Amino acid sequence: MSEVHVVSKHNRQLYKNYFDPYFRLRHEIYVKQRKWMALDRPDGREIDQFDTDEAVYLFCIDGGRLIGGMRAVPTVMPNLMSEIFPYLNIREPIQRPDVYELSRIFVIPERRGEHAGPRIDMLLLTAIMEYGVSTGLSGFSIVLETWWLPRFERCGWKAHPLGLPQMIDGMSVLAVLVDCDEATWTSLCGQIGLRKPTLTWRGLAGVNRRALPDLSTPAPPTFPPAQSALPGAGGYAT
Ligand code: COA
Repeated sequence: MSEVHVVSKHNRQLYKNYFDPYFRLRHEIYVKQRKWMALDRPDGREIDQFDTDEAVYLFCIDGGRLIGGMRAVPTVMPNLMSEIFPYLNIREPIQRPDVYELSRIFVIPERRGEHAGPRIDMLLLTAIMEYGVSTGLSGFSIVLETWWLPRFERCGWKAHPLGLPQMIDGMSVLAVLVDCDEATWTSLCGQIGLRKPTLTWRGLAGVNRRALPDLSTPAPPTFPPAQSALPGAGGYAT
């Protein structure tokens, strides 16, 4: 059973054995497989200047093994869009406490494209939306390759371009701002068959967050049921 854990400076100690494999996995995936050679480091770990104490990680763990991950960096701190790719954002620079920048989403090769159970990539996209809604975020900024856009479209992530795509190292890349809202989270849960929040917040009881509802009981309607348009079928005011 795959679990998605929130890991931050407040509980990093509990996950200390995962960090070395995590950075080595990133090196394997981004440097060796994807050939993003600018990230190469002789120690075989892919760590950059944005892996600070303020970064929050989602670790997808199955049977004690790290099988996927994602990084969220507060946009009030230096981030990829502000420091490396500022020219991709032709709008106002994003530097807001309610927006985090997402990066380094990956699934280990042997767990990609699964069809039995929720796909790990979808689980991560659902989990980060849950994280954002729980902690009061309104959006996620992302520098991404354009092939993500149809994937986001399919799963209901609303991505707003911040500029035009540009070719960088042979990749078509653009900057987007994705809405973070409860409706998107609920819809994602429905798509992957989740009936309740999925995140594990081990050691984070002190973090200020909103508890999200259990989805197995239908939410009460927020507006009166539509009246029938058929005469005689009832629904008319008396
Ligand atoms: N270029 C273009 N399209 C890609 C792609 C790439 N580098 N990687 C994935 N895709 C798209 C393709 O449409 C692919 O469809 P295909 O089967 O027709 O090729 C589809 O995603 C499915 O990808 P797949 O890798 O089979 O499975 P997944 O959906 O479970 O996992 C990722 C998707 C991105 C999480 C996984 O491919 C991964 O971990 N990749 C390495 C890390 C990475 O590049 N992350 C993104 C940048 S941070």
